[in-house]
Formats: sequence, structure tokens, C-alpha cells
Amino acid sequence: MVEDTENNKLPRHIAIIMDGNGRWAARRGLPRSEGHKAGAAAVRDIVTHCRRLGIGYLTLYAFSSENWNRPKNEIAALFRLLLEFLNVETPLMVENDIRLNVIGDITALPAPQRAALRHSMSRTGKGRQMVLNLAINYGGRTEIARAVKNILLANLTADDITEQSISDHLYTAGQPDPDLLIRTSGELRLSNFLLYQCAYSELYFTETLWPDFDSNELDRALNAYAARSRRFGRIEENPKEGD
Ligand code: IPE
Ligand code: IPE
Ligand code: MG
Repeated sequence: MVEDTENNKLPRHIAIIMDGNGRWAARRGLPRSEGHKAGAAAVRDIVTHCRRLGIGYLTLYAFSSENWNRPKNEIAALFRLLLEFLNVETPLMVENDIRLNVIGDITALPAPQRAALRHSMSRTGKGRQMVLNLAINYGGRTEIARAVKNILLANLTADDITEQSISDHLYTAGQPDPDLLIRTSGELRLSNFLLYQCAYSELYFTETLWPDFDSNELDRALNAYAARSRRFGRIEENPKEGD
């Protein structure tokens, strides 16, 4: 259970680096693709749990722009799973008032995946309860470069360049920044994820591998988040002893 404190410290936006599928499979003597399959099942559970809790925005790192460096057969398995996921989940997202939004450059994806993503985004376009951002072929630096390019194309001048105008040209334009960034599997790095948006996010790392990350694990992260003091440069108002 999440202990929702009186000042309601539930994040509006959670971002997750879903890592550890390969190791999960290796520990069981299975091929990596089986780890990704188990990872997709975990996605389902976490999306459902976030929707139930009333989280407004959930951003999941599914495929980075660096993941093209993996073996061809692993990439193919990931894209097959993406199609399967979209087929099964699109009607459920519609039913649950969830809007799917892709962040990343999908022009580089195989045609069937591109079409399925477009179809799913259009079918879920009216979703109002939660935005699910799927980061696919996403890289944070490329996203910032793209924003600068689009700012120039919009004929903005040097005076128009502000933190806000840059934000407005990112894939996540109009969305609040992530309050909480979770990474599973014990790796302590950002791997080019949401570099601009996570400037003030609370970071939560767990050793748990992504396929094992369930609603209890998410509640643990949310309780840790609720206990954090987000100061944004200010001094602590009611410091606890030892702080
Ligand atoms: C995360 O799991 C999924 C993707 C990057 C697509 P990994 O495949 O990176 O799993 P590990 O890190 O090798 O265990
Ligand atoms: C980050 O995981 C990307 C995704 C979870 C999709 P990686 O496993 O690719 O990251 P590195 O290579 O360990 O930094
Ligand atoms: Mg990994």
C-alpha cells in the first residue's frame, strides 16, 4: 500500500528506465528475448497500477537510440513484442482512458511498428486519465538538438530562447517534468534518458530486475518518494534532526 500523506506526495509524472531483462533471462538459462517478454508483462502491471493510483503521466524507456548497437535478432524480438503489446493493450488503454504518446524518432522503425504506433496513438487520442509516453528510439541529446532545430525553423529569435521555449519543443511539450525517475537492475546512470526534463527529478534506484518489478516494488518507490524533501534550492522548512 502507498501511504498517501496528508499533503498528497504522489508524483504527477513517473519516468522509468526499465533495465535488467537480459540478466533476468540469463539467471534462468533463457534467451534474452524471454527476458524482454517477461519485461513486457511487467509493463502491463505497472501501467495498470499507475492508472489505479491516479498517476497522470508515466514515461517508459523501451528502446534507446543506442540500443541499435545490439544484435539484429534481439532488436527484431523487441520490435515483435512491441507489435504484440500494441495489439493487446490498445483496446485496454481506450477502455481505461489512457492516451499513448511516443517519444523518440519513430521514422527509423520498421513500417509495421510505425503503423501500429500511429494507429494506437490515434485510437487512444481521447484518453484523459493518464498519458503513457513510450520512449522508442529515444535519446535525450538528440531530443535537445531536435528542439533547437525546430526553434530555428519556427523563426524564433535569440530573445525567445528560454527554459520554457526549449521545453515547449521537446517531445514532452505541455507535460510536467518527471517528479520521480526510477531505474531498475542496479545500474546507476541515466543512459541518455530525459536529460532536460529530469533536472530536478527525485532519483530512485533498485537492484530489482525489470521483469520482477511489480506493484509492491512501485509502492516501495512511491513511499521513498513521499519521504523525500524536495527543496528546489530552498532551505528545509521543518528539518528533521540530523538533516
Ligand atoms: C532493458 O533490459 C530492456 C532494453 C534495453 C530494451 P536489458 O536488455 O538492457 O537487460 P540487461 O541490462 O542486459 O540485463
Ligand atoms: C537503457 O538501458 C535503455 C532502456 C531501458 C530502454 P540499457 O541497458 O540500454 O542501458 P546501458 O547500455 O546499460 O547504459
Ligand atoms: Mg540493460
